Amino acid sequence: MQVAVIGANGGIGRELLPRLADAGHDPVGVVRDESQFEAVRDRGGEPRLGDLEGDFDAALDGADAVVFTAGSGGSTGADKTLMVDLWGARRVVDACVDRGIDRFVMISSVGAGDPLAGPEPLRPYLVAKRCAADHLEQSSLDSTILRPTALTDAEGTGSVSLAADGLGGDTAEIPRADVAQTAVACLDTDRTVGETIRLTGGETPIERALRGGD
Ligand SMILES: NC(=O)c1ccc[n+]([C@@H]2O[C@H](COP(=O)([O-])OP(=O)(O)OC[C@H]3O[C@@H](n4cnc5c(N)ncnc54)[C@H](OP(=O)(O)O)[C@@H]3O)[C@@H](O)[C@H]2O)c1
Repeated sequence: MQVAVIGANGGIGRELLPRLADAGHDPVGVVRDESQFEAVRDRGGEPRLGDLEGDFDAALDGADAVVFTAGSGGSTGADKTLMVDLWGARRVVDACVDRGIDRFVMISSVGAGDPLAGPEPLRPYLVAKRCAADHLEQSSLDSTILRPTALTDAEGTGSVSLAADGLGGDTAEIPRADVAQTAVACLDTDRTVGETIRLTGGETPIERALRGGD
């Protein structure tokens, strides 16, 4: 499949490109600056320009699936949370519906299920993630929504935990590499379609966890 990665220059995005290629997919790395093209190529992706606050439509040409892992980041304000995490994500979902790109994996966040229960500074972000995921769930697309705990740049372990509750509270973490590997595995695991999956570091090999072995 040709898989467009939205946020390909980000932490998870960079981990996704080589893993998609290794799994036999054709990764397209959607970035917002041409200076990032070479890094996308180095990781086995075809670079294309796309800005969630502007035009990104052409970046989806020929795609069979999208993995959305963009984010406005913790150093920007609520304006970018609205424009990127909420509106940008919704616009990508709508563009996929318009173009008949049926498969969509969204990297959401732990806490998006109940934003008011999250730490106060994070609530606007959690609301944005929740509303974007709701829009995807309510669309006609074959969706999988991943809700990872806090991300780290530690080396991937190839194992996760999909524990339904708890997830280790505020201290639970997961390497970005393992979130990326899980997103790739979701594309090849039909039973993840229509699912919202909480995700943290753990002991169960990713493919087995997605098959229900956790
Ligand atoms: N941080 C956490 O602990 C945590 C926990 C749970 C879930 N998440 C979610 O996990 C995902 C990936 O997180 P991460 O830390 O790997 O991300 P990241 O490194 O912050 O990367 C986010 C990417 O989004 C891109 N982006 C921002 N605005 C954009 C726009 N207007 N148009 C196109 N691209 C844009 C950035 O582009 P540039 O490279 O050009 O800046 C960047 O490459 C995000 O959706 C985040 O919300 C994060």
